[in-house]
Amino acid sequence: MANFMTAALPDVPIDGVVRTILDSLDASLGDVRDALALPPECYTSPDWFEFERRAIFDRDWVVLAHHNVIPDKGDYVSIEINGEPLLVVRGRDDEVRVLSAVCRHRGHLLGEGQGNARSFTCPFHAWTYDLEGTLTSAPEMDGTLPFDELKRTACLPRFRHEIWNGFIFVNMDGKAAPLGPRLKGLTALLANHRMDELAAIRTVDWAGNPWNWKFMQENALEPYHTHYLHSGIHDFAPSANVRFTEWDDSDDAAIYREVGFTHLDGGFNVSKRGLFPPIPTLTEAERSRVVFAAVMPNLFIGAQGDVVFYFVILPQAAGDITLRVGLLTTYDNLGLPTADALLKGTLDGIGIFNEQDVVANISTAKGMRSRIAPRSRWAPSEKTLVQINAWLIKRYKAYAASLQRYAEAAE
Ligand code: FES
Ligand SMILES: [Fe+2]
Repeated sequence: MANFMTAALPDVPIDGVVRTILDSLDASLGDVRDALALPPECYTSPDWFEFERRAIFDRDWVVLAHHNVIPDKGDYVSIEINGEPLLVVRGRDDEVRVLSAVCRHRGHLLGEGQGNARSFTCPFHAWTYDLEGTLTSAPEMDGTLPFDELKRTACLPRFRHEIWNGFIFVNMDGKAAPLGPRLKGLTALLANHRMDELAAIRTVDWAGNPWNWKFMQENALEPYHTHYLHSGIHDFAPSANVRFTEWDDSDDAAIYREVGFTHLDGGFNVSKRGLFPPIPTLTEAERSRVVFAAVMPNLFIGAQGDVVFYFVILPQAAGDITLRVGLLTTYDNLGLPTADALLKGTLDGIGIFNEQDVVANISTAKGMRSRIAPRSRWAPSEKTLVQINAWLIKRYKAYAASLQRYAEAAE
């Protein structure tokens, strides 16, 4: 097995607002009819965000990209997640690797953006790395030390990754339990989409979204708002047709719901129908529904009959996220003469719903900063939000307990 870099952020003290929140989390566990929302500070506090960066984003699997964004040898895409610049690269051996994008000389970033490369040459002083991160040249450095010696300490660190359904995840602390076995239900539900075989369009980044990362998953996962906020345009996917899943602690990496359409081949655009031909491996029942799924914490998937749209959520601060937006469909669909127009219509359609959600997310983010912000009760159709909270609280408590043990052991 390859040697992986493990690099969790230094721990933060459990005091102040972090301690207060931790002490109050039990009220958010339990049945949808009993549980409360998370404390508002969970969405607004910079201290809590720093806690989450460690408890969640350093210790669980976080999504980086779909592997068909980099289908060919030498393809790469850069991404910064939890403050860490990474390169996702397909090597000459066709294997995907997750490398540090930080040059081992003075820290200039390598391979920014997306492209195809034979190697990565740093623009600053021309140190060069191959697709596996091995240092292959470092001009003028032999005046300091022999190249072989430099190479031993100056290759790009590689991080542990796992691929599920084509989506590449990284685990920074190297200790998370394997992801796939905790995605059994969702894997079965989406098996016929064959997402790993679908073509991925080039992703687009939307930066500067002023709300907390959890809002993104919450908004997408609850069907309570769909017939109010999206009144009219969402009617072909009515909340009365929602099917929830029961929480299973042994299969907890995703939280999801299905919504049955009022007709075959529904789609989220003005025509209310998928614009591309359906994915041929789907049954009619599967073409008559959408699956909205959060692979926690930062992948959101909307799987309809002709396309799968997804968001990679990249938290920047307690109230700031970047969204990397992507879409999957068959290679045949993208080869159609009308593909560009169908793609534009599909993305514009999703944009209509998203614009309404953006307004709600911005407004709610402001409301959560009120000194009397609510810690609300749930409607039954917000069941998925209680499940999200169960997922979060399990990880919040595990990290806090590990610090506690650490503190006790040091005494
Ligand atoms: S910082 Fe990359 S070569 Fe100097
Ligand atoms: Fe919505």
